[in-house]
Amino acid sequence: MNDPAWLQFIGDFGVRTLEDARVYLLESTLAMYARMGFGLYLTELKESAVPIGVCGLIKRDFLEDVDIGFAFLPDFRKQGYAYEAAAAILAYGKETFGLKRIVAITSLDNQASGRLLEKLGLHFERVISFPPDGEDVKLFAAHL
Ligand SMILES: CC(C)(COP(=O)(O)OP(=O)(O)OC[C@H]1O[C@@H](n2cnc3c(N)ncnc32)[C@H](O)[C@@H]1OP(=O)(O)O)[C@@H](O)C(=O)NCCC(=O)NCCS
Repeated sequence: MNDPAWLQFIGDFGVRTLEDARVYLLESTLAMYARMGFGLYLTELKESAVPIGVCGLIKRDFLEDVDIGFAFLPDFRKQGYAYEAAAAILAYGKETFGLKRIVAITSLDNQASGRLLEKLGLHFERVISFPPDGEDVKLFAAHL
């Protein structure tokens, strides 16, 4: 959550210490599991269980549809891992939660994320404003 691409494209959540991380996980990720039955998941290498990023489903109050999210550590980008994880999450959302439509939001200049979403079959729909500060973001969507 502190690598330059996360800070640039997702934002600064102020998570600096293990205690910050514990609170963030409890209030955000684990709360989403409890509320929706899904959330962001750890992704790791199959052979070694090395953690390489997060990928999963998010339900935000200001969006009607569930969105897909992902972020990988710099050493594990550009190798197809994000695509593999995200494709599995789309199938999981469809099969386990009966999702019929999935969306994703990216900052206007996040080209790597946009490329991945297009590869997954999502298409740019429109620019929306992201609460609370109203930043313009791109909304992508696909029917599952
Ligand atoms: C967005 C993000 C997850 C995309 O990850 P990624 O690693 O580029 O995506 P993929 O797993 O699809 O990898 C695709 C790239 O790997 C390359 N690649 C290399 N080996 C590969 C293989 N064996 N299989 C598939 N692709 C491979 C592809 O050519 C492609 O390169 P390209 O983007 O130059 O065309 C990543 O950039 C990231 O974590 N960014 C920071 C956080 C962030 O912005 N999150 C999204 C917020 S909306």
